[in-house]
Amino acid sequence: MHAARRSGATNHMTMVRLVLCLLAALAIASSAPAQTTLDLAGSGSAQARAVHAQHGMVAAQEATAARIGADILERGGNAVDAAVAVGFALAVTLPKAGNLGGGGFMVLHLAGRNEEVAIDYREAAPAATTSDVFLNERGEADPERSRNSGLAVGVPGTVAGLALAHARYGSGRFTLAELIAPAIALARAGIPVADDLLDSLALAGPRLARWPSSKIFLKANGEPLGAGDALVQRDLAHSLEAIARAGERAFYTGAIADRIVAAVRSAGGRMTLADLNSYRPIVRAPVRGLYRGHEIVSMPPPSSGGVHLVEMLNILEGFPLDRLGAGSPAALHLMIEAMKLAYADRAEFLGDSDVVDVPIARLTSKSHAAALRARIGERAQAVPASGPDSPPRGGGNTTHYSVVDRFGNAVANTYSLNFNYGLGLLAEGTGILLNNQLDDFAAKPGVPNAFGLVSGGANAPGPGKRPLSSMTPTIVLKDGRPLLVTGAPGGSRIITSVLQVVLNVIEFKKPIAEAVAAPRLHHQWRPDEVVVEPGLPADSVGALQARGHTIRRGPLFGSAHSIAVAPGGLVGAADERARGAKAHGY
Ligand code: DON
Repeated sequence: MHAARRSGATNHMTMVRLVLCLLAALAIASSAPAQTTLDLAGSGSAQARAVHAQHGMVAAQEATAARIGADILERGGNAVDAAVAVGFALAVTLPKAGNLGGGGFMVLHLAGRNEEVAIDYREAAPAATTSDVFLNERGEADPERSRNSGLAVGVPGTVAGLALAHARYGSGRFTLAELIAPAIALARAGIPVADDLLDSLALAGPRLARWPSSKIFLKANGEPLGAGDALVQRDLAHSLEAIARAGERAFYTGAIADRIVAAVRSAGGRMTLADLNSYRPIVRAPVRGLYRGHEIVSMPPPSSGGVHLVEMLNILEGFPLDRLGAGSPAALHLMIEAMKLAYADRAEFLGDSDVVDVPIARLTSKSHAAALRARIGERAQAVPASGPDSPPRGGGNTTHYSVVDRFGNAVANTYSLNFNYGLGLLAEGTGILLNNQLDDFAAKPGVPNAFGLVSGGANAPGPGKRPLSSMTPTIVLKDGRPLLVTGAPGGSRIITSVLQVVLNVIEFKKPIAEAVAAPRLHHQWRPDEVVVEPGLPADSVGALQARGHTIRRGPLFGSAHSIAVAPGGLVGAADERARGAKAHGY
């Protein structure tokens, strides 16, 4: 069944040599396509870099991984092959979010079959998970359990998800081993600590230092690796080699699985070998919407992303945003009100649709949007105070990448360990960082998670259940063909980041780099505040306050690495909200 079994050692060595050549080529950047840097001087905050190419494109948070994906495309692979190679490479080069020990979601447009599919490889709660798992003795939600202990670790889905994508939707030109080989070479040779790796390690020091097995990220004095250091991940190279040899079996059974279970249990979790053995990724029908003649294809539950992206777009379709003007206070006000209404529905209805009934069709219907739209007025609608609120946590500790190939296939992939480096715990001897994704459950109904998101019974913890996500990998089609591939990190701000990229492209007709770089804002119903990026002009903020909005100036959020299919070719936009992002094409 697994292509990996067909691959011999010779193949593998060829790939390793290829990767080393590739790294050398990268150093001199000789093959870089023409680039336009778009410094939006007016915004003063975010930049995106447009890269033009004719045949294939990868836009990702880290340059080497993006180049590896583009190389697979250039050698005849399809977008799925490239996405799988990038997914394994980012587990090495962007360990804060790229992962083997976490999970995520992939949305695919398959040109040959004229079909879109969604792969749910979200982490699952262990079978021993009870609804009160994150409560303390007094019955209160206990963030130490849901964020900082082994109880927070969901059964990882990434390896199974990527293997399934390759087996079902890959071109057949590359074995899984060939797609993993670049990641193995990077893990073994080591990578320089720079850009986002440097920035993320500086923040993660204390979380990593709590676990002796995570010392590869630290210097002898206990400080995180810094500029000039190299991150060498030999154990991770071994784990990747085992997966290259035997496919996902090597992760979900045998020595690696044993070590993951041991690590989780020693940190207080309840995961068993049976939980790993029985993990399966799920191929789902994507959520679909229609916005001004464009088809929106996005992620269904257990992510809330697609449902609420479509819901917000449906609400906004009834307003002349284009005429009001991009960035105008009137348009921003309507966007904020749409966000509030959608996030209120999120809190009430969303959860794992394999366990609870989620009214997806109703929430994404034009009639539901019309009813909500009728509630929007000139002034900010107050959110009823109904419990403890906490501000949304910022950060870009998830990662999204977009791929388009010359056959017309497209892949949007978002995956995550939840926090920066997840739980911070490396399963001893495996090099695999474990997630703390189960904090995305409602530890207790109405009590906010780390991103300030509230949810209720539909998202209560339960055995085998997948926690509600906001990840929103999205493909926009025009006349049945991809026009835009996008997605973002940012916790609760993922869905609103993607909304704004989509609106900037479809509604405001911005070129992709500008659409990605434009300053963003975010409201999530509770807490009742609008978080605005630094680039939003002061007079816009003032006009929103005059309409009754409470504004909080926040940091940049959501590196939305996107690709537009333009009449003249492909345009990749690496979102430089985090350092080191890159689009590579050929
Ligand atoms: O699945 C989710 O929605 C979150 N666990 C994603 C976390 C995230 O984006 C962290 N980065 N800021």
